[in-house]
Amino acid sequence: MKNLTVLLKTIPLALLLFILLSLPTAAQADVTNKVNYTRDVIYQIVTDRFSDGDPSNNPTGAIYSQDCSDLHKYCGGDWQGIIDKINDGYLTDLGITAIWISQPVENVYALHPSGYTSYHGYWARDYKRTNPFYGDFSDFDRLMDTAHSNGIKVIMDFTPNHSSPALETDPNYAENGAVYNDGVLIGNYSNDPNNLFHHNGGTDFSSYEDSIYRNLYDLADYDLNNTVMDQYLKESIKLWLDKGIDGIRVDAVKHMSEGWQTSLMSDIYAHEPVFTFGEWFLGSGEVDPQNHHFANESGMSLLDFQFGQTIRDVLMDGSSNWYDFNEMIASTEEDYDEVIDQVTFIDNHDMSRFSFEQSSNRHTDIALAVLLTSRGVPTIYYGTEQYLTGGNDPENRKPMSDFDRTTNSYQIISTLASLRQSNPALGYGNTSERWINSDVYIYERAFGDSVVLTAVNSGDTSYTINNLNTSLPQGQYTDELQQLLDGNEITVNSNGAVDSFQLSANGVSVWQITEEHASPLIGHVGPMMGKHGNTVTITGEGFGDNEGSVLFDSDFSDVLSWSDTKIEVSVPDVTAGHYDISVVNAGDSQSPTYDKFEVLTGDQVSIRFAVNNATTSLGTNLYIVGNVNELGNWDPDQAIGPMFNQVMYQYPTWYYDISVPAEENLEYKFIKKDSSGNVVWESGNNHTYTTPATGTDTVLVDWQ
Ligand code: NOJ
Ligand code: NOJ
Ligand code: CA
Ligand code: CA
Repeated sequence: MKNLTVLLKTIPLALLLFILLSLPTAAQADVTNKVNYTRDVIYQIVTDRFSDGDPSNNPTGAIYSQDCSDLHKYCGGDWQGIIDKINDGYLTDLGITAIWISQPVENVYALHPSGYTSYHGYWARDYKRTNPFYGDFSDFDRLMDTAHSNGIKVIMDFTPNHSSPALETDPNYAENGAVYNDGVLIGNYSNDPNNLFHHNGGTDFSSYEDSIYRNLYDLADYDLNNTVMDQYLKESIKLWLDKGIDGIRVDAVKHMSEGWQTSLMSDIYAHEPVFTFGEWFLGSGEVDPQNHHFANESGMSLLDFQFGQTIRDVLMDGSSNWYDFNEMIASTEEDYDEVIDQVTFIDNHDMSRFSFEQSSNRHTDIALAVLLTSRGVPTIYYGTEQYLTGGNDPENRKPMSDFDRTTNSYQIISTLASLRQSNPALGYGNTSERWINSDVYIYERAFGDSVVLTAVNSGDTSYTINNLNTSLPQGQYTDELQQLLDGNEITVNSNGAVDSFQLSANGVSVWQITEEHASPLIGHVGPMMGKHGNTVTITGEGFGDNEGSVLFDSDFSDVLSWSDTKIEVSVPDVTAGHYDISVVNAGDSQSPTYDKFEVLTGDQVSIRFAVNNATTSLGTNLYIVGNVNELGNWDPDQAIGPMFNQVMYQYPTWYYDISVPAEENLEYKFIKKDSSGNVVWESGNNHTYTTPATGTDTVLVDWQ
């Protein structure tokens, strides 16, 4: 305010108005930052179900349901519909700053034998063309322009695991999984001389390996160790990156090798770094160390199913309580290296909607308030703001009922989305529990001197809250939600003790302070993996207006751009490995270090390493270790594995697909490790192998 008073006295009114109007508003997110979504709110759109802005592109015939009474068919929604809802203010007033849209590529036209269609976009036919029922490339360009000029980033869904439904024995089943490269047939499932697909039957989900190398339901599963498929998919995603997309949601990541996906991420980050998150489905109560490993090592974040399932258990049916929720918050902070990059939600197109028919929608409102004040990148499934209901797929994909901007949930989303933009504690802060019982959860998020304290009571009676402590400074705080959920004011004393107050039944209050930090403090770094020369973006506070430096351990990186809150650097030419990132401002003050950034040896290729005759006793597994960072630098604790031995090869042959540097002379050995970590090395000389510049390969040797 001080600056504004000075301005008022010194410049003419017209000029002042001009300056004020051209300043970005809080809701105008930084669309140029494609790697940090922690302060954004994503809105997930099933394109076919959101809004039909152009009836002329609707399908005709058996795959179309004009009134959408058949939820398995196309209903007419398209990119023009999304453009219209941005232009009329529905999405911008909602405060969301990113949309996640259905996979935009051409899908199969066939009617599935069970009456299903590709309206959802998960049955790709040609990744270099558009789905004509959503629009053509010029419509897509207009969608991108409209979104960007309104402060909205665009995330596309992407399915590199499979094409479409197919049956080994019946070429007439749907479109036989056929896949095209800009109109030219590459191959189809039942007649596959070039081995583009796996032919191992459907997975029974019994193991990680089984899920990767067998079909997911009847979907024709790609052999990503095939050079043609590898190149085609990597080329395709670059086409969409060049179209300006700002983020990628990768489908079914549990069903593809981590190695291939790491090579994909390395390609994406070298081309145009964008925030990428995968779908690794977890059911209620499920915790999977492989899921954490993937999020920490692949270069990709994940949809946070632990968060989503737990909040559903607490608020939809009470099968969990706030103690369980708090435990999930604490354990995920441990298990994920970058917990603020995991993508949180309360429902989506693969589970029943959060809202269900009942007298009040209060549980949805409470869930939204928790989602939007918690760590992670919050995602709202389209229609949740209209309390759309529906059970499992396809009932959870009904068309938008209404575009009403007066619903309580619409107001809650809009209020808290703008708080995420203005107060960095919501995007960057850690989480501390401040007061808890099975009905009440009061938690604090803090980053530097900014603090957000949220109090939730999901019980049907009010509680007197005594002995609450906070790091909010002394003062009186009004409810940021302005009583949308029956919140209250609080008074904080000089020692951080909060005067006793009544927390309403089914009430939520949010109190906050936003204070700029004077010395450098890193909030976020993205991506967290890449090779020398890639661009990395660092956001935070107190960097200062004058250029300082950014260190990878003690090595300087080239600064590409510098502002008080955002720095872009290029990954320095250092030995591959893990580095602590820190910022030093022009006044020589150094930030605390952020997490470990992984510098890759160079461009990556995905190679299948296999070894024959490696016999083991029960509980002992095969691993590979070698002379580069990607193979663990000869450290058995960093060896890659446990390797597989069931589907592509069978015991005593073992195999594993690994992302390794391109055009590199590798030396490696296989090791046997038992459950207590005892290691037996191969004897003899190291195996040697020179990796190709691009494409994939398989190297099979005998255990020695
Ligand atoms: C997960 C998607 O979210 C789901 O909707 C889809 O059917 C499957 N993957 C297969 O692509
Ligand atoms: C690391 C060495 O560099 C490698 O050559 C050797 O095979 C293993 N250690 C086991 O001794
Ligand atoms: Ca249409
Ligand atoms: Ca697969």
